[in-house]
Amino acid sequence: MPKLIVVNRAGEETTVEADSGLTVMEVIRDNGFDELLSLCGGCCSCATCHIHVDAAFADKMPAMSEDEDDLLESSDHRNETSRLSCQIPFTDDLDGLKVTIAEED
Ligand code: FES
Repeated sequence: MPKLIVVNRAGEETTVEADSGLTVMEVIRDNGFDELLSLCGGCCSCATCHIHVDAAFADKMPAMSEDEDDLLESSDHRNETSRLSCQIPFTDDLDGLKVTIAEED
């Protein structure tokens, strides 16, 4: 099972394991991180699943859709590492991925 390292808003790191096939948002949510609201359930319309992706994995990230880009643009906390976690399938290839839950808008 690939591992995902989640950093919460307090800066605490937790490593979780997950079946591939879920999205990064689902892995975070299913492991009880209530800071990641994910209000729309993953249909790319809320931006409350905003995370920052470790730069070391930038080239393994799927391409960003226009909708994701537009939603992220509405965040005051967007930077070059920003993604919506519901748009990232968690694959074996992403084993060891470290993500940080973005500040709340
Ligand atoms: S959960 Fe709503 S955009 Fe990701």
